[in-house]
Amino acid sequence: MASMKELAGSLRTHHCGELRESDIGKTVTICGWLNKYRNLGSLHFIDVRDRYGVTQLGFEQFKGDINELRKFSLESVIMAKGKVTARPDSAKNANMETGMVEVQVEEIRLLSLAEEVPFLPHGMVQATEDLRLRYRYLDLRSKKLQDILRLRSMTARKVREALYKLDFTEVETPILYKTTPEGARDYVVPSRVHPGKVYALPQSPQTLKQLLMIANTDKYFQICRCFRDEDLRADRQPEFTQVDIEVSFPTLDYMKNLATHVVKNVFDMPEGFEMKSISYDEVMRDYGSDKPDVRFGLKQMIVSDLFKTSTFATFSEVANSKYGMVKAMFVPTSMGTLARKDIDALVDIVKPYGGKGVAWFKVENQQVTGGISKFIDPNLLNALYEKSSEKGDGLWFFMADKNENIAHDCADALRRHFGKTFNLINHDQYAFLWVYDFPLFDYDADANTLGAKHHPFTRPKDEDMELYYSTDKSKVKDVKAYAYDIVCNGYEIGGGSMRIFDNKQQSRMFELLGFTPEEAQHQFGFFIEALKYGTPPHAGMAFGMDRLIMLLAKTDSIRDVIAFPKTASATDLMASAPSKPNPAQCKELGFKWIEE
Ligand code: AMO
Repeated sequence: MASMKELAGSLRTHHCGELRESDIGKTVTICGWLNKYRNLGSLHFIDVRDRYGVTQLGFEQFKGDINELRKFSLESVIMAKGKVTARPDSAKNANMETGMVEVQVEEIRLLSLAEEVPFLPHGMVQATEDLRLRYRYLDLRSKKLQDILRLRSMTARKVREALYKLDFTEVETPILYKTTPEGARDYVVPSRVHPGKVYALPQSPQTLKQLLMIANTDKYFQICRCFRDEDLRADRQPEFTQVDIEVSFPTLDYMKNLATHVVKNVFDMPEGFEMKSISYDEVMRDYGSDKPDVRFGLKQMIVSDLFKTSTFATFSEVANSKYGMVKAMFVPTSMGTLARKDIDALVDIVKPYGGKGVAWFKVENQQVTGGISKFIDPNLLNALYEKSSEKGDGLWFFMADKNENIAHDCADALRRHFGKTFNLINHDQYAFLWVYDFPLFDYDADANTLGAKHHPFTRPKDEDMELYYSTDKSKVKDVKAYAYDIVCNGYEIGGGSMRIFDNKQQSRMFELLGFTPEEAQHQFGFFIEALKYGTPPHAGMAFGMDRLIMLLAKTDSIRDVIAFPKTASATDLMASAPSKPNPAQCKELGFKWIEE
């Protein structure tokens, strides 16, 4: 940002990133933090910094006591008035936006003296993340984090403008509410007025936005905070922000067009931008993940059938088991190759996902060597190459497990590892996917129970309606849903579904998920009742705002994009939250805390 129009009444006339050669001769006042102090014999310089940049102050015309300046510690806040002058040629700095000029100080005031700071926001020495979180306001002084906050604010504006253009209405929904199941635990807030009762903080405004459709809002959105008590990861926070959307009377095509419109505006994609569509079954077959990074190829193959009669017992057992799977990945020599010790180390990549190992063999001049090559006859080799889009010399890798989810997870982990190792990723690219036709349920075969894959309000596909009412849960598990995710560079940036708008279908869903009619009535009675009074077909989605910003800012830590984030154990190190309630609070709330 080159220039800022200040309103009358500001302490400053210009900000610290603003002055250029065209300002030479002007008398200006600037304010900011003392970034650097230099004493070159008879010459003194101070660099003053604010949100916008750095300006050098010189003291050649300073009439005050220069020794007083030594009392100004780094990170103190100062105000300086003086004349903009050209720097001598030898001191010009083309790498600095204000590097052609300096301000020759006539008056300087110390506005706030800083004690020695625990770390310098612009220092060369890296402070630990815990220390930076403990003093988050100091860390936030850095250009990197301020730029991200700004990016976040600008992105929220783009989202609003894109949705207002389509006549959406932004509606605020309550934070003190009732459970909104999205698969995590609720954060609960005790009620003083109703001792022994709690509110739940919304995991998302899911039921509320559906009620808004029943209430004739037609096109709703909200940039809202969601709360989920779940295991945290690099792209998850216990409270995070969604761009939450719901519309009445859409088709599935409309929903994809709407998601495309939002993504195009947020990522400034060119005219004619489209997201590639891929079904859930295809994405799992090709990538072993429902959120693959498709900036690079390296697709996988399901080869269970080829190993059913193999003499390699480990694979034939898996291939013949009920829920087993053998996956293969071929790395052509042109893409990269691995030394024996690197191949042996691949087991460490799959172990965290339950994998026991990575089988492999090498093809060189049509000869197979190494690993499991003694089990690979020419027919099998031909059959493998027939499945592969890449041909020629290279390394074949295999992941096999009696639980197909483990085979997929290991294949995904290995593919991501190769993407990095072989430098296959173009870091300037955004590669989007629209993944559709998700299963409606997660099925636990051991317990014979169903869980909602997305959430309990997702509509089964019309063609699977008979299965949906089947009494056999191992059949119901195959029902597909009108559910979709939006994926970018290996992140799930958004997800949504067409909704159930028939109260009998909704009651059936609660029944399949194991709720007794009483439990369903207790938790969702109000919602099931609302479905009775004229419900339009409706659908929606939510984008993870924090993940959008992570991608735009090209950072892989969600903490970088949130002003006051929590640690991986959901604590705020600065304010020491959560903290113990005081005894008076407990009494008032009618709570007795059990001391462990
Ligand atoms: P879902 O649970 O898929 O859907 O969430 C939507 C998007 O929110 C982001 N997200 C998160 N971001 C940071 N930290 C978290 N803990 C976290 N959890 C989710 C992801 C995800 O794609 N109500 C439905 C949406 C709908 O059906 O309309 C929902 O919340 O980017």
